[in-house]
Amino acid sequence: MQKKTVLVTGSTSGIGLAVAREMAREGFRTILTGRRKALLRETVENFLRLGHEVRGIPADLAEPGEAERLFAETLDWTGGRLDVLVNNAGTWQQSPVEEITREDFRSLMSLNLEAPFILSGLAMRTMKRQRSGTIVNISSVAGLEAWAQTSLYSASKFGLRALTQSLLAEGSRFGIKAFAVCPGYVATPMTAGARVSPEDMIQPEDVARLVMAHLALSPATVLKDIVISRLGAED
Ligand SMILES: NC(=O)c1ccc[n+]([C@@H]2O[C@H](COP(=O)([O-])OP(=O)(O)OC[C@H]3O[C@@H](n4cnc5c(N)ncnc54)[C@H](OP(=O)(O)O)[C@@H]3O)[C@@H](O)[C@H]2O)c1
Repeated sequence: MQKKTVLVTGSTSGIGLAVAREMAREGFRTILTGRRKALLRETVENFLRLGHEVRGIPADLAEPGEAERLFAETLDWTGGRLDVLVNNAGTWQQSPVEEITREDFRSLMSLNLEAPFILSGLAMRTMKRQRSGTIVNISSVAGLEAWAQTSLYSASKFGLRALTQSLLAEGSRFGIKAFAVCPGYVATPMTAGARVSPEDMIQPEDVARLVMAHLALSPATVLKDIVISRLGAED
């Protein structure tokens, strides 16, 4: 049987790296990607040392045309197949609404929402042809609720959940699943310096385990939003 393939965006760090590690361990042929080429190379080497089948494709997903190139190079390597897409790469921004410029809006949305839209559209074509596949969108608790100064980030993460719901509605009759993961604070470089200490945060490996658990469900079962909270947290 052909090995399954997965593309995880933002897989050189944090949640994406943990998900990619778990999937490679499960035997997936794994495509890793991020902007920093040296870090990507080092990550690929670490995976290869563990005997995983892996390919690194650098891409800046905030730039026009990069999602399309990444997807095309992914299919070149997999022979046209993609079983799982994990839209994970994202960035965080915090400011009052009146201080958000058009440039801030475009810059955050291009990575957090536009790239997942483009990659999901391309993945849907491939997955419809295969009549199987799963798209995982890493949203956030900020995709369920917005707070002071989180409007832009929350808008992108709410949007990702809207995309997920439509992907599921459009994909289900082709055997395609989509689900969103909505964690609170996760201990990654993104939250370094946050008011919560890393040991009191969700661990990236917890997110990875939940993604894997979902992938192991029977074909007719889907979880719509996986909300992951810190014990005792209100965020
Ligand atoms: N940490 C949390 O508390 C938390 C909670 C809920 C949701 N999330 C979401 O989870 C996702 C991952 O977050 P994380 O905390 O794991 O972040 P992280 O540790 O900072 O990792 C981000 C990853 O994305 C890549 N990346 C960043 N900008 C990129 C770009 N323009 N093009 C391509 N790749 C890019 C980074 O590599 P390069 O820098 O080399 O490009 C890195 O591999 C994000 O969508 C975030 O919003 C995080």
